[in-house]
Amino acid sequence: MLKTAIIGAGKIFDSHLKAIAQLDRLKAVAVADVQGEKAQEAGRRYGLHSYTDYRVMLEKEKPDLVIVALPHWLHKEAAIDCARAGAHMLIEKPMALTVGECDEMIGAARQHRVQLMVGLTQHYIRENRVAKQIVKQGDLGKLVMINDTRHQLYNVESRPEWFFHKAQAGGGILTNLGAHSIDKIQWLLDSPIRKVKAHLSYHVGRGDIEGSGALFLETENHIPATVVQSGYEGVPVNETQLIFTKGMLRLATGKSLWISDQGRYREVEMPEAQDPFKLQLMELIDVIDGVRPLESSGEYAKSINAVLEGIYRSSETGTEIEIFKTMTR
Ligand SMILES: NC(=O)c1ccc[n+]([C@@H]2O[C@H](COP(=O)([O-])OP(=O)(O)OC[C@H]3O[C@@H](n4cnc5c(N)ncnc54)[C@H](O)[C@@H]3O)[C@@H](O)[C@H]2O)c1
Repeated sequence: MLKTAIIGAGKIFDSHLKAIAQLDRLKAVAVADVQGEKAQEAGRRYGLHSYTDYRVMLEKEKPDLVIVALPHWLHKEAAIDCARAGAHMLIEKPMALTVGECDEMIGAARQHRVQLMVGLTQHYIRENRVAKQIVKQGDLGKLVMINDTRHQLYNVESRPEWFFHKAQAGGGILTNLGAHSIDKIQWLLDSPIRKVKAHLSYHVGRGDIEGSGALFLETENHIPATVVQSGYEGVPVNETQLIFTKGMLRLATGKSLWISDQGRYREVEMPEAQDPFKLQLMELIDVIDGVRPLESSGEYAKSINAVLEGIYRSSETGTEIEIFKTMTR
């Protein structure tokens, strides 16, 4: 049984707790949140010890595994503290604010011989998994491009304030939701993004983050991809098109997958849905047990930060940016 603790009792907390409850190997023991009431309420709901200082929690509870669900600017410090406390960890995405921070986290995990996994939920969503299988099988011919579109009103009342400040969040919609798109493209193609040209806009009217972005990307295996995201008003969209020489896939992550069939889209039959938060913890348990290698590793997640850095630099300079090699899988 792995004693599991959670740092951060915010929006994503319940998803992790529900996943832990489905796994015999994990036992949730404690939660820490600087907002005392939130920590106590979460603790009461799930029968956990609650703390306002996560360092005290690490010291007293000595957890085997910690889930870090904090604002992005706090990921690095928390990861290093967990590593020092000898705890394996699942860090929420994006891994940290910069590639440099990712390196420090990876170094700490190595030094203290603990596993560091990043919560890249795209890998565990069934429509994505089936799409990846189809790409691998090659029945649709050669993949020639990917087109990823996401629109979601970003400046909503319920979004905590830190998300609107670059120093705390790292960026806006591209850092938060774009991280999922970058991951999805790299993972579907099994190839890291090597070039990026980006044009961002800044009209959110709150904080200092970008509100939209148009990106032109190229993977190491020379597949071009476009990512278009807007957090302004409009109609929500979350769709990825994969275009091959002999057909197309239309992927609505978490909803459906369609494949072209004689000039029309036909819905692809899906296996039974499984909780992605549960599947990612199952991977981590197997990795701790030495049964399989870690897919959503710090090294891999760092490559997403490298692309994010490239996006902001490209938009600032108006130039195409080459992403250096960060993936050492
Ligand atoms: N995988 C996904 O699909 C997904 C979805 C939502 C959020 N996330 C990620 O999860 C993380 C958390 O996001 P959220 O929406 O839950 O944010 P949130 O703001 O709702 O929650 C963060 C919590 O951390 C607490 N906190 C702040 N500083 C702290 C400290 N020093 N010690 C202890 N607690 C502290 C806050 O009080 C807050 O309750 C982010 O990295 C976010 O990008 C991932």
